[in-house]
Amino acid sequence: MQIPTHLAIIMDGNGRWAEQRRLPRILGHRKGVETVQTIVDECLELGVRYLTLYAFSSENWGRPQEEVEALMGLLGTFLKKELSQLQKRGIRLMAIGELDRLPKSISKILNDITKKTADNDRMVLNLALSYGSRNELTRAMQRLGREIAAGKLQADDLTEMDIEAVLDTHSIPGPDLLIRTGGEMRISNFMLWQMAYTELYFTETPWPDFSRNKLLQAIEVYSHRQRRFGLTGAQLRDVGADDGEERH
Ligand code: FPP
Repeated sequence: MQIPTHLAIIMDGNGRWAEQRRLPRILGHRKGVETVQTIVDECLELGVRYLTLYAFSSENWGRPQEEVEALMGLLGTFLKKELSQLQKRGIRLMAIGELDRLPKSISKILNDITKKTADNDRMVLNLALSYGSRNELTRAMQRLGREIAAGKLQADDLTEMDIEAVLDTHSIPGPDLLIRTGGEMRISNFMLWQMAYTELYFTETPWPDFSRNKLLQAIEVYSHRQRRFGLTGAQLRDVGADDGEERH
């Protein structure tokens, strides 16, 4: 089975999972945290190198205050509890997004864990927090604009690499596979630049019910996709990028 180097996940459906059971939405998020732990473990075992989880979007700030506070609370508890597990498993924690909007207590723990795990090299767990792709691109353009205004860069000389370098994800390759749980089939402002050639996989399963087996199913489907990056299958075989296996 072909394992994606970088797996990104939109963990959707927590609220509906809870509502269907007549439970408060936050219980869906709490169950969702358990799924996060299961999936992190499985990714580590499979040899995924980068796992990006969309944990809180720029737009999520607009949810009822009590849900926002509850989500921040869960995140804080998760981070505090997780440090020793991350160290034990050799996982490096990173975060992308407009992190200065997060409550001080959360950004403090986040900074602390990011620093303490910086040398871990088995897997990167990258949390998208207060993240929106358009916001990330806007901040990136502002930075480039300032460099151009300061005479450090020429507008006409800008390359795709210059843009990559100012994105929050600058040290991380683009995702090979995106999984979205919860039945919606859209990207919702998630890593728009980075996902130019990402394989997409949508499942009805809400995030709290997502499991090791469902992850394996998604990766199995991904394994049978032929990624051509705009080239023909024959060209890929010529450069040895394709293993010649029949794919669907
Ligand atoms: C989408 O479900 C999920 C979220 C907005 C938050 C995801 C957060 C977690 C799983 C917990 C915190 C994360 C970590 C990494 C500890 P939804 O509420 O939009 O579901 P709905 O579409 O059914 O309403």
